[in-house]
Amino acid sequence: MAKPKIILDCDPGHDDAVAILLAVRHCEVLAITTVSGNAPLEMTTANALLMCQLAGLDIPVHAGADRPLLVPAAHAPRAHGATGLDGPPRPDVHLAAASDDAVGCIIETVRAHDDVWLVPVGPLTNIALAVRQAPDIVGRVAGISLMGGSVGLGNVTPTAEFNVWADPHAAQIVFAAGVPLVRMAGLNLTHQLCVGPDESAALRAQGGMVPEFVASLFDFYLAGYRERAGLDAAPMHDPCAVLAVTHPELFAFGARHVDVETAGELTRGMTVADERPGTDATPNCEVAYSIDAEPALKLIVGAVCSYD
Ligand code: RIB
Ligand code: CA
Repeated sequence: MAKPKIILDCDPGHDDAVAILLAVRHCEVLAITTVSGNAPLEMTTANALLMCQLAGLDIPVHAGADRPLLVPAAHAPRAHGATGLDGPPRPDVHLAAASDDAVGCIIETVRAHDDVWLVPVGPLTNIALAVRQAPDIVGRVAGISLMGGSVGLGNVTPTAEFNVWADPHAAQIVFAAGVPLVRMAGLNLTHQLCVGPDESAALRAQGGMVPEFVASLFDFYLAGYRERAGLDAAPMHDPCAVLAVTHPELFAFGARHVDVETAGELTRGMTVADERPGTDATPNCEVAYSIDAEPALKLIVGAVCSYD
């Protein structure tokens, strides 16, 4: 069966970096687009290029929005470090971005190819701008599989997950755009898929530049979760959005209407899913509620180990 065609929109980010490696093994990645999120745009773009160079990927990287639609830019140095990809020594990167027009890339790629999935795993700024500038792409995409939101606890606030909180207006636009198939991998789901010391050890046992680089990424990422939450496990948020396209059979989804709080003092960035029995709200999203973590982890570790 043909691999799904995707555009991966990301803000590398430790888990974004793994999502890139996983996506390349299971999808036809037509382009990688970057957005301000875990780190400033300059760094998220540099990090995407670093991963392409490290893994020998010939995929165009297009830089996108350097700030959210309306709220001030915010980053996540506690989780990802100042560079957005702290942990392993950084190699010199000699690749350059294909353009600084990620939104134009998204629009033109969807217009030129049938059945393209948009897989955003950072703030949804680029996606919102694309559907606003080119409403015709809403009916052309195969779907949007996003990592963002939660139908449970938040992470950046008690109620909001970082990607949606960082640009709530963009997220609201995307959920309301009318895309026929939207899959949401929120924190309620992604915390079911965690890596730990065993996965770092498996990558080091494999050896090689990419597995060892990712093992060092895991070490940094894990240390943060140990320090902040006392956990010896770190959720693989962004790879879940890739797997929801490539291996949907590993998930249980529920059709829900999801909207985004943009103005709440305590709830800005909250994804409000209507889970009331018998609600007359029309679903606009498939919310992921569970994942079969064992095969999913094997797919992630196997993909990373498959590079040199
Ligand atoms: O809340 C988790 C999300 O925020 C992930 O996409 C992670 O990379 C960060 O962007
Ligand atoms: Ca991300």
